[in-house]
Amino acid sequence: MFVYKFDLLSSEYKQNPFPAWQAMREAGPVIRAKIPLVGKVWMFTSYDSASHMLRDHETFVRNPSKAGRKYVAGFLAFMPPSARVLANNMMAHDGEEHRRLRSLVDQAFQMRSVESMKGTLTAISNRLLDKIERRLQDGETVDLLEDFARPLPLAVISELLGLPTSDRENFKGWGNRLTNVNSIMGLFKVFPGLWKIRNYLRKQIENCRIEPREGLLSTLVHLEQDGDRLSKDELLAMAFLLLIAGHETTVHLITTSLVTLFQHETQLDKLRRNWGLADSAVEEVMRFVSPAEIAKPRMLSADTTIHKQSLRRGEYAVAMLGAANHDPEMFEEPDAFNIERSPNPHLGFGTGIHVCQGMKLARAETGIALKSLFDRFPNLQLATPINDIEWSRRIGFRSINRLPVKLA
Ligand code: HEM
Repeated sequence: MFVYKFDLLSSEYKQNPFPAWQAMREAGPVIRAKIPLVGKVWMFTSYDSASHMLRDHETFVRNPSKAGRKYVAGFLAFMPPSARVLANNMMAHDGEEHRRLRSLVDQAFQMRSVESMKGTLTAISNRLLDKIERRLQDGETVDLLEDFARPLPLAVISELLGLPTSDRENFKGWGNRLTNVNSIMGLFKVFPGLWKIRNYLRKQIENCRIEPREGLLSTLVHLEQDGDRLSKDELLAMAFLLLIAGHETTVHLITTSLVTLFQHETQLDKLRRNWGLADSAVEEVMRFVSPAEIAKPRMLSADTTIHKQSLRRGEYAVAMLGAANHDPEMFEEPDAFNIERSPNPHLGFGTGIHVCQGMKLARAETGIALKSLFDRFPNLQLATPINDIEWSRRIGFRSINRLPVKLA
């Protein structure tokens, strides 16, 4: 059987993945391919096939034991058991177990709605802008990634979880280092960071147990559902998932929103004239850029035939969210960036039972970040030619390494 190889890490691909996404779709809705870290997979490349696969959680599972496997994807096999505990979160379960874990977080989330957080989001955003205002006015170039897009979601997720403000500096670089893995060797470099986060979160959970406080973490520690509580390890894994999932991807959404808007000046002008378009602009970036370009790998729980391909139990399958989000069968002029696109049923946050639980928060954060930034600095511009913006060479994410800006 023919196995496709797409260089998902080359700088050409990272800079402009559209031709490769087209080639994937043209090769077929379900193709055999080889990707870094996971190895051979069934790649679901069209909107239709990818959304179907993500919704069929009976056949495509995250729990390896249901597929006759020991680990979820190749690289977990290399993790020491002490680190594996962190990965045992709701993303690693299907069916009833997944529902139990997810609904506990739902309950905790309900106690603090995203709507009620908007004031806090604006305040955090403004505080960060205060810090860079003088530098920009003095004509300095500022890296918005380090000085705005990274600290903002970190402050928000720490606030939501109820982690002490004073600790933020310590784990500033953790998320970035943890997700910046492209090879098995690279994985070994993340262990020290993993242990630090694990120990830190364990201590925070223990503190919440002794002394309840504001925030999701303390709520989860004390939450009971039908007499059922989260075990210590479940709590740890959940806190880890929320911290990493809630931070890193949002950083990428904010930075890539800015790059895309700078790249499409007419769209940026339209947005500046009418901030009522902020929500649909964020949705369009989610589709156009697809910051999470590949969903987490699933495994086949049983043999099946799809689009004339015979898939076997235990094999891996991935949904190519970026390719699906540019499928011309679903989106008119898919490679055009149009902040008024409607409807826009993109798969950027996934779909099915694992659809992103923090999407409302991510949307609100990004909308507020863009508005506060351009309201404060109407003449903000890139301090480097757009083609010099360097996209990170990391698997599964679309992100940039620096975002230098200055005032015109
Ligand atoms: C732009 C920002 C974000 C993007 C692009 C994003 C993307 C995604 C995607 C694609 C999935 C599904 C993965 C899959 O099915 O394989 C997912 C799941 C998840 N996300 Fe997000 N996410 C973002 C922000 C957040 C935030 C802010 C939080 C938390 C506060 C969060 C928490 C989660 C959780 C808990 C899951 C797992 C849900 C489950 O297994 O049922 N995410 N996210």
